[in-house]
Amino acid sequence: MKIKNICCIGAGYVGGPTMSIIAQKNPKIKVHVVDMNSNKIAAWNSENLKNLPVYEPGLSKVVKEARGRNLFFSTNIEKHIQDADMIFISVNTPTKTSGEGKGYAADLKFVEACAKQIAEVSKSNKIIVEKSTVPVRTSEKIKEILLSNNSDVNFQILSNPEFLAEGTAMRDLEIPDRVLIGGDNTIEGKKAINSLFEIYASWVPKENILTTNLWSSELSKLTANAFLAQRISSINSLSELCEETGANIEEVSKAIGMDSRIGNSFLKTSVGFGGSCFQKDILNLVYLCRYYGLDQVAEFWHQVIKINNYQKKRFAYKTIQELNGNVKNKKIGILGWAFKKDTNDSRESASIYISNDLLNEGANLFIYDPRVSKERIIEDLKSLFIINGESDNEISKKLNSVKIVSDYNLCFENASGVSILTEWDEFKTYDWQRIYNNMQQPAFVFDGRNILDRNHLEAIGFIYKGIGNH
Ligand code: NAD
Ligand code: UGA
Repeated sequence: MKIKNICCIGAGYVGGPTMSIIAQKNPKIKVHVVDMNSNKIAAWNSENLKNLPVYEPGLSKVVKEARGRNLFFSTNIEKHIQDADMIFISVNTPTKTSGEGKGYAADLKFVEACAKQIAEVSKSNKIIVEKSTVPVRTSEKIKEILLSNNSDVNFQILSNPEFLAEGTAMRDLEIPDRVLIGGDNTIEGKKAINSLFEIYASWVPKENILTTNLWSSELSKLTANAFLAQRISSINSLSELCEETGANIEEVSKAIGMDSRIGNSFLKTSVGFGGSCFQKDILNLVYLCRYYGLDQVAEFWHQVIKINNYQKKRFAYKTIQELNGNVKNKKIGILGWAFKKDTNDSRESASIYISNDLLNEGANLFIYDPRVSKERIIEDLKSLFIINGESDNEISKKLNSVKIVSDYNLCFENASGVSILTEWDEFKTYDWQRIYNNMQQPAFVFDGRNILDRNHLEAIGFIYKGIGNH
């Protein structure tokens, strides 16, 4: 069946960019992206493309080309579900905060709400595509909800997980390593797979479009993220050994990565991985393994998260130690709040946790990020304080020690140290000599991403502390 109308529920970091590319590459298909958040939809529709709710290099160009032609953003969810012959569910699947599986399992309430709404309003046959990352066998649950709420129309369910990484989303969508489509091994199932296959085939080479059964597709997404995160925790765990032994993690990483069997990507040591997905997806995998009684397997993957938490704590602790074991009333500049460069997303960013640890020790923080808004930074900190059960009094005291600045120079005046927590390219272009002159002496740079030129900084007079080297 040739698809003419697509509806995507969820206009977030995945729904927005993914549908923009699908619309750009398939000008004959009408694509409506809907969301219950009217502010977000208004931002997607804003005249000024700088105000799109998602920052991704190259995104505004694609939106400019397709928006109003065959790409639309709307809050009229019901209408666009009814009109569509294919519906992508691209809503958030966070970790559960209560009930069975609390702290580990994926909360599927948003996915389930979509399925219920689709069933309630649909009057014609539809292909439902799981774009959100979900536990294996979720499609079974979606099918159950659809059938029990509407037996008049035929629903085919596909799994089509998304592998884009933020900051490089447009490139990842344009030239994906692979597109994965899982579906039922029935005549109707195969037809549905084919319909989605055709959409991607308008720009992705056919040999890069992989079709599998539903469960393999769902599980491949979770495990791909787990493998990537596991590499980061592996290299981060070794960074501490390097600090103890005099080996240099950058050199070790290069040497390991040149083995073609290992490969060199995802071996960059850091203050710990962040982002909305790695942690939640691995916790979900741990939950699934435990659910099936595979405790040893669960423990293996859980360790990836434990090392990541340890790395963040370790970095904060090291900063405090270097500043004579006391940061009370000392000013520390924080450069970078996004969980990686080239995105305005700060979900689960290491910066949040490291800043909290420094605030707990009484530091004064001046925070700068080129893309994350002041409101977002305050909200991130507040949410963590609340999760940690802090009183209103404690929260306002800690927030009084935080200044978010839009001029990065303000981070340095009379600061004892500066921490680089995101690898934004612009940090490398700063005039570090001038910065040094503005700071208290001795002046420390804690380079949580090893992006600055150590020799240059030390020649200026800085005390340079990277990760995984002396
Ligand atoms: P997001 O929070 O940015 O966007 C989700 C959107 O869904 C929100 O705008 C929310 O308002 C909307 N929504 C939720 N329930 C709704 C409903 N019932 N009706 C209408 N709108 C609804 O999330 P995201 O980062 O785009 O992630 C979406 C899914 O994709 C998650 O499962 C995630 O694991 C997965 N994923 C994310 C990335 C990434 O880089 N962010 C990459 C691959 C996969
Ligand atoms: C990750 C995966 O790379 C995507 O394939 C996947 O689709 C996505 O999760 C998802 O499911 O949400 P993303 O989190 O956007 O993408 O970004 P990554 O480039 O994977 O970086 C994640 C974190 O790991 C960042 O904090 C980054 O700084 C850190 N990282 C990455 C390292 O510390 N070292 C590395 O070598 C690579």
